[in-house]
Amino acid sequence: MRHLSSRTIPRRVVGSLAAALLCAAGLAAPAVASSDTQDTDTARSPAADGVRARGSEGPRLPDGLALTPPMGFNNWNATHCRADFDESMVKGIADIFVEKGLKEAGYEYVNLDDCWALPQRDADGKLVPDPKRFPGGIKAVADYVHSKGLKLGIYTSAGTKTCNSAGFPGALGHERSDAQQFADWGVDYLKYDNCNNQGVDAKKRYIAMRDALKAASETTGRPIVYSICEWGENKPWEWAADVGHLWRTTGDISDNWGSMLAIMKKNLPLARHAGPGRWNDPDMLEVGNGGMTATEYRTHFSMWSIMAAPLLIGSDLRKVSPETFDILGNREVIAVDQDPLGKQGHVVSSEGGRWVVAKEMKDGSRAVALFNETGSPKTITTTAKAVGLPAADGYSLRDLWKHESYNVAGTISATVPAHGTVLVRVAADGQWQDKPPAVDLGAADPLVEAGKSEKLLTKVANRGSTDARDVRVSLTGPSGWRLKATSPTRASALRTGEVLGTSWQVTAPRDAKPGTYALDLKASHRAPGGGRVQLRQPVTARVVVAPPAGDTALSGLPWLSTTNGWGPVEKDTSNGESAAGDGKPLTIGGKVYAKGLGVHAESTVEYYAGGACEKLTAQVGVDDEKPDKGTVAFQVWADGKLAAATGVLTTADPAEAVSADVRGAEVIRLVVTDGGDGIDSDHADWAEPVLGC
Ligand code: GLA
Repeated sequence: MRHLSSRTIPRRVVGSLAAALLCAAGLAAPAVASSDTQDTDTARSPAADGVRARGSEGPRLPDGLALTPPMGFNNWNATHCRADFDESMVKGIADIFVEKGLKEAGYEYVNLDDCWALPQRDADGKLVPDPKRFPGGIKAVADYVHSKGLKLGIYTSAGTKTCNSAGFPGALGHERSDAQQFADWGVDYLKYDNCNNQGVDAKKRYIAMRDALKAASETTGRPIVYSICEWGENKPWEWAADVGHLWRTTGDISDNWGSMLAIMKKNLPLARHAGPGRWNDPDMLEVGNGGMTATEYRTHFSMWSIMAAPLLIGSDLRKVSPETFDILGNREVIAVDQDPLGKQGHVVSSEGGRWVVAKEMKDGSRAVALFNETGSPKTITTTAKAVGLPAADGYSLRDLWKHESYNVAGTISATVPAHGTVLVRVAADGQWQDKPPAVDLGAADPLVEAGKSEKLLTKVANRGSTDARDVRVSLTGPSGWRLKATSPTRASALRTGEVLGTSWQVTAPRDAKPGTYALDLKASHRAPGGGRVQLRQPVTARVVVAPPAGDTALSGLPWLSTTNGWGPVEKDTSNGESAAGDGKPLTIGGKVYAKGLGVHAESTVEYYAGGACEKLTAQVGVDDEKPDKGTVAFQVWADGKLAAATGVLTTADPAEAVSADVRGAEVIRLVVTDGGDGIDSDHADWAEPVLGC
């Protein structure tokens, strides 16, 4: 049996309307002051195998392999066990690596995952490649891949069978012979999984294969990169530095924002365990598989790179868009991942979903990721000092997605779109004078009713060491929208730290349907050399409908956005954890409620109130369907103000009445936290929520 609980990760479902979040009190991320605080450090106690754990100059395998994080491809995320995982796919990927310049960009390994073998070994105990998928055998595939100047990887499990339910043979008890077979085929990389491990100690199992690979590769002279895949269950970062070259730190990734985010958050605190030849592996890339937006995939790729993660492409490159190649082929971002100093970036700050992660680079510069976890644009700020740079009059800043260079005075700041990442490289290189100043352009996403006007504030902030001259800002929108500046849109010069703030009246057409509309915010200033520096920032206006006067059941109104710990937020049923509509009747303390919202911590649900409402009431509690566990706390926020809160409630508690004064609030936010003990079993009900307007 597969051990499911260890292989699944919490999934935060982000409502499709998340872009319109008017985030006042960001609850998306726990506040983290610095990295490296969450895992237990056993560095001072010798590990069972006599190996001591690790600072960033700690031990590693003596073979000199994987001195930078491995790069390549693995079919799993694209195909799982499907029939299109076959010889022609593997060869096709190798061809594309060469043709599209990915090989030159550093992608090297073409790796086969589970399902390449037949379920039975042959009479000699040898593994047999599936003849349907690999009619020429594995050696032929290896030869082909090698002929392109690339390397081949393979997969098996440190158990009696692999993870797939079809039950392909695992290597437990067959380490020597299987490793020899891989080496004989010309394999350069082994991913060694954890399923069906029969409870045998992980260190023992993974060390047995390390030794078998070493012996086998000595007979062929071909070194083999060793990828430990036990999902972080035994904290391999504490003992595996000289067992494997990389180790998974989490369960499997899937192609959605919540999965990627949860994995990132588990991997970030492990920074100090990574180094040349010994990498934290937050699992393979999903870029190009279709489940996230381009902005989210750029975040995924930026954050994997700043975490010095292995970059194993997980999409079928024969079918992906040019945009996917642009992301995966971004050499300036790859250079962050592949920096020879081999540091994993660490968390400099994290508050309200605004993350700053910095990575020391060999040339003394710092890669800095400004990552916005929330559903609305956020200005994220840090300083040269906070990311570890020496004091200087100015710094060079390179934007690794825009491919532009600027100067900054010491503040590193950008307005980052919802779920986006601005990735920069900042250097105290004395070369800043000839570059234009870094100017940040930003605005919130406005909510507006059809035919009505809302105020919007745009800001142009000079973060450079030099003046920004002749600054101009403009805002345009789709036809029928009126966008009128009510304060100046020009400044003759902005000195370091100065801001041109402009107020706008945004009027939606009378017949505008509810939904999102793209506004175009632009600014420009004169570059030192004479030309103009152009800036652009997308702004999403959302047309909303005011709630009706009188008392209305909240579950009958459209929400603005949701986030949820497991599955989607449900209307009038409890939360069933996966698909929409899989809940049961809302029940708290034996009482069944016909109306309400069934959520799972951590959860937020936002509604537009348009300043026209007075009171929100509800009966709240943990749903009875989780009799043993489940501890949560409920909050109601009126814009940025906490309007009502419960203490921690458990399944033992009856429903608690909540009443929140929401007078004047534009947006009402219902929040459920985990009660401080993780989100397990946290099924929370907002029963009979009524909005009085
Ligand atoms: C486990 C691993 C995955 C993949 C599958 C194959 O789940 O963690 O990366 O290799 O097995 O069955």
